[in-house]
Amino acid sequence: MPLPALLQGRLSLPAIAAPMFIVSHPDLVIAQCRAGIVGSFPALNARPKEALDEWLTRLHAELTDRDAPFAVNQIVHASNDRLEHDLEVCAKHRVPIIITSLRAPNAVIDAVHAWGGIVFHDVTNLRHAEKALEAGVDGLILVAAGAGGHAGTLSPFALVAEVRRIFDGPLALSGSITQGGQILAAQAMGADLAYIGTRFIATREANAAEGYKRMIVESSAADVLYTPFFTGVHGNYLKPSIVAQGLDPDALPPRDKTAMNFGSTSVKAWRDIWGAGQGVGSITDAPTTAEVVARLRAEYAAARESLR
Ligand SMILES: Cc1cc2nc3c(=O)[nH]c(=O)nc-3n(C[C@H](O)[C@H](O)[C@H](O)COP(=O)(O)O)c2cc1C
Repeated sequence: MPLPALLQGRLSLPAIAAPMFIVSHPDLVIAQCRAGIVGSFPALNARPKEALDEWLTRLHAELTDRDAPFAVNQIVHASNDRLEHDLEVCAKHRVPIIITSLRAPNAVIDAVHAWGGIVFHDVTNLRHAEKALEAGVDGLILVAAGAGGHAGTLSPFALVAEVRRIFDGPLALSGSITQGGQILAAQAMGADLAYIGTRFIATREANAAEGYKRMIVESSAADVLYTPFFTGVHGNYLKPSIVAQGLDPDALPPRDKTAMNFGSTSVKAWRDIWGAGQGVGSITDAPTTAEVVARLRAEYAAARESLR
């Protein structure tokens, strides 16, 4: 399946840098797009909400058609009371790609298409993929086991194969992708693009505390805990950051979905309890974003060559 027209000829690598709460700020997004991969950020990172207009003005001013396009992530959930405002601002700036999370975004899709944008929706299972496709999304992001943030539980092999049976459109795959060879593997499995989060926390441009970047570099997969405790939805977090907040990662009480909140009150969870995917074990430094993408490109090319 060819990529959507707005991605054709604009990418140096078939990859989208995933939106990350608090971490993804304009400096990171600009560096990602200049390096030739789609850069993205959650609209909720621009605080107060008036800052979103300023951020988008800056992205348009600093990026050109030679750079990759950028994406804005909208959390479609009742606790996000900014959705209407943020969509209006995205419409004003004709944001090229909207990434929707949580709910199948019926209300959002028409608005985005009206300004000429496309919608990618992230899902963790086939049922949610079906609902999103019925709603008319342009592409799907498959969030497999081991991803940072609100991850799924399915093997990427199982998830891509199931979704490919019902959808031949653009598919991005996420979960622990930190190396160029894995991007080629995602394509070999049937995905079109890799969707990469955690690798970019450990970069110079990421809006993350130095201690967070260091913890990413020092951790391995065994340090990642999958729990619904902090937001009401299962997500992957670094155990040492939980210990640092005086909690025992092995003895957190269960939480139910009614506690789910993606508004301002969840900031503390992400600010103090640090999210990361199982790919942390292969991240050993925090260089510039340009350096990370250059490495990914070299590894991707080497993997292709070695399989030839
Ligand atoms: C710290 C952190 C914050 C995240 N915040 C968001 C978010 O606000 N919205 C969203 O759709 N996904 C969010 N994610 C998930 C990522 O967009 C993406 O699915 C995930 O990072 C991919 O897996 P990887 O981290 O193993 O590469 C977050 C992930 C991390 C690690």
